[in-house]
Amino acid sequence: MPLLIQNGRIITAEADYHADIYCADEQITRIEESIDPTTLPDDTVAIDATGRYVFPGFIDPHVHVHLPFMGTFAKDDHESASRAAIVGGTTAYIEMVCPAPDQEPMDAFNEWQSKAQGNSHCDYSFHMGVVRFDEQARQQLRSIVTDHGIASFKVFMAYKGALDISDENLFDLLTMGKELGVITTAHCENATAIDSMQRKLLGEGKTGPEWHEPSRPVQVEAEGVHHLATFAELTGAHVYAVHTSCAAAIDEARAAQARGVKLWVESVIPHLALDHTYAEQPEYEGAKFVMSPPLRDRSNHDPLWAALASGVTSTVGTDHAPFDFHGQKDMGKDDFTRIPNGIPSIQERVDLLYNLGVRAGRIDLHTFVRAASTNAAQIFGLKGKGTITVGADADIVVYDPEYRHTLSVKTQQSSVDYNAFEGWELTGRSEIVTVRGKVMARDGAFVGNEAGRGRLIERTPTHF
Ligand code: URP
Ligand code: ZN
Ligand code: ZN
Repeated sequence: MPLLIQNGRIITAEADYHADIYCADEQITRIEESIDPTTLPDDTVAIDATGRYVFPGFIDPHVHVHLPFMGTFAKDDHESASRAAIVGGTTAYIEMVCPAPDQEPMDAFNEWQSKAQGNSHCDYSFHMGVVRFDEQARQQLRSIVTDHGIASFKVFMAYKGALDISDENLFDLLTMGKELGVITTAHCENATAIDSMQRKLLGEGKTGPEWHEPSRPVQVEAEGVHHLATFAELTGAHVYAVHTSCAAAIDEARAAQARGVKLWVESVIPHLALDHTYAEQPEYEGAKFVMSPPLRDRSNHDPLWAALASGVTSTVGTDHAPFDFHGQKDMGKDDFTRIPNGIPSIQERVDLLYNLGVRAGRIDLHTFVRAASTNAAQIFGLKGKGTITVGADADIVVYDPEYRHTLSVKTQQSSVDYNAFEGWELTGRSEIVTVRGKVMARDGAFVGNEAGRGRLIERTPTHF
């Protein structure tokens, strides 16, 4: 059905103006100062956006949905994850394919794609995880890029013996990435140092979730970013440091960018909103807040926001990785290294970024749109996404900047059994969310009625 959004204040990465938007056949087809509704087809859905911002649909560049990890599986599937995303204003996401160490890349890609296809309500793509890089993997990865529209790889420097990639493989992968124009995203933490420190702490009887952060301090992450940047410099590859959590890592990234390394930086909302004291809560409550890199000392918050405001950091994702508190997080009751890592926030990201960033005066509205949408579209080649312009996909968020609400497990769409932001009072909410011209969320409720309408966004490499 055609869609008319009237009287809204359109905010994009660069522009800020009042206009009406008309959408037909899944795209934005007109943007004019005033569009007369009587000239439009009778079945046009009209939305009054008076007093509202009109943003491009938000994009989460870092989510885990199908995730076999640390002896269990993440709790959401694409139906629940994409429902949560959309209600929170996110109209497209990029999921990490995380193959098992002995799994063939093509098998892993097919496995992840089979979970999303026909189930996701929003459009999606994948970062193709690479855990080993032999000749067979090389050929299959080439095919995943050229035949299946995947234009980014993902490597883990952390998670020793499970997902971590060797230096030899990393160097070769980056070399191929450069040749194919594929950007490589990386979890930057030194796996060997973490492993040694974890064993030492456990040997001293330090087994609770509060020891997770001390087992992987900021130096471990800064070294990871430095390592990635060095390999990128040597190979000429373009790289992207995911979930950058601390000032020390940002300093490494800034220095690399200054010397011309093609390095982009992502922050994720838990690191901007929470700190390590959450993981120190008694009665094992802290396990809800175990993720990697860990929540840091609050003194890192200002440098993280400053990096976003200055453009050192390009994107804010979630690293949504949902594991239940009861039955999953408690696998690590006697050993913090066994707590499934992750803090879910796919529904909360946009409102938290708006509150802690825009409303708190740390970033302006354009930086907000860039960080939560446009930059991800540009860096990862999500054509038609991340902007409001004629010809773009009609992924639109009508945002009520004054709506007051409280975050809670009771109102979340994700299947996980807790909310890391329980009781937080926020102002601002996605009132109407459209995916390719169809209203999918209204007033905080999911109203999509077509299962699996989301599509794989085929991408073309651009990072030569
Ligand atoms: O704690 C996290 N981040 N869990 C998901 C896996 C990853 O490292 O991204
Ligand atoms: Zn990670
Ligand atoms: Zn992740």
